[in-house]
Amino acid sequence: MDTINRGLSEPADDNVEAAAESRLLHVIGQTSRYIALLAAWVATSGSLYMSEALGWIPCLLCWYQRILMYPLALIAALGIVTNDRRMYRYVLVLAVPGMGMSLYHYLYQKSDFVRGLFPSSCVVGVPCSADYLNWFGGVVTIPFLALIAFTVIVLAAIASRLADDSEYAAEDAPAESNPQARVARMVIVLLIIAGVVGAFLLAAGANAQAQVAAARPATTPVSPIAVSPALLAKGKAVYESACVGCHGPAGEGVASIRPITESALLRSGTDEELIQLVRMGRRVNDPHNVSGLAMPAGGGQAGMADEDILAVIAYMRVLAQGRSD
Ligand code: HEC
Repeated sequence: MDTINRGLSEPADDNVEAAAESRLLHVIGQTSRYIALLAAWVATSGSLYMSEALGWIPCLLCWYQRILMYPLALIAALGIVTNDRRMYRYVLVLAVPGMGMSLYHYLYQKSDFVRGLFPSSCVVGVPCSADYLNWFGGVVTIPFLALIAFTVIVLAAIASRLADDSEYAAEDAPAESNPQARVARMVIVLLIIAGVVGAFLLAAGANAQAQVAAARPATTPVSPIAVSPALLAKGKAVYESACVGCHGPAGEGVASIRPITESALLRSGTDEELIQLVRMGRRVNDPHNVSGLAMPAGGGQAGMADEDILAVIAYMRVLAQGRSD
């Protein structure tokens, strides 16, 4: 009796296991598409937040990455809603070069050797070697985040392709294309997009408010800033992490931002006036604006500590004297 039972139940168990396994694969395949969608929307909204809300000007290599990332946000949404089996192809054809571009940009920022390979690959406009972000002591830069996003998308696309091989997916296909399932997918896609875009819009609103709040006069008199070698060294560090992207390594300016040697404010303005400028930035419609570009509060780091502001002003004053050593 025992033997018969075992003989009968074994194949059945196998079937149950195989079905469970292919169901799991199927769930992984479906989920990974949404993960790709999420990553593409976070990257797209994040990059627009940086340029539109913070005023950070994208460099040439940044633009190439944008060209590859932005379509992914739409392709992933369309692929999910229409349950397109070949979605992974269109995703990979953009995301794999995107990974390469981000990796190259990151190495370009971090390694003199790589920068030396193609010295002219980024000479127009904003220097690609500078970064506005520089989190964790400069390890995490904007192309680093882009590389993570592209990698997540590539892995998710591969996972969705592999999982799609499962029998479950093949059997389930007709059911998946019924109108109800399609509406359900559309709703999830819209929720993900609305969630991500909403979060970045809130952040942009908060940033705009922080800029207004920062527009307070320098209360404690600081003139003259007590300049010391230590203060200048600190100022250089702040400058290189927060200001260099727009003002250039030696203050020569990028895009249509004039060199800081031409800044009367730096040469003869009071410390209070400069603190004020760095705290609140200068809007495009400000009557004092000369370039037609916005100077974001704290160079985009609204709420920058006062000590950092004093230090960077002291350092910029040295740069503005145009010393060429
Ligand atoms: C996203 C680009 C950007 C960043 C980052 C940035 N600035 Fe500026 N900055 C500008 C622009 C644009 C102007 C010119 C505004 C104008 O045309 O009036 C400017 C002008 C200035 C001026 C000269 C103002 C004048 O009229 O003479 C000073 C000083 C200055 N910035 C300091 C800083 C400091 C300090 C930092 C870093 C904490 C910084 N900036 C980061 C864009 C930037």
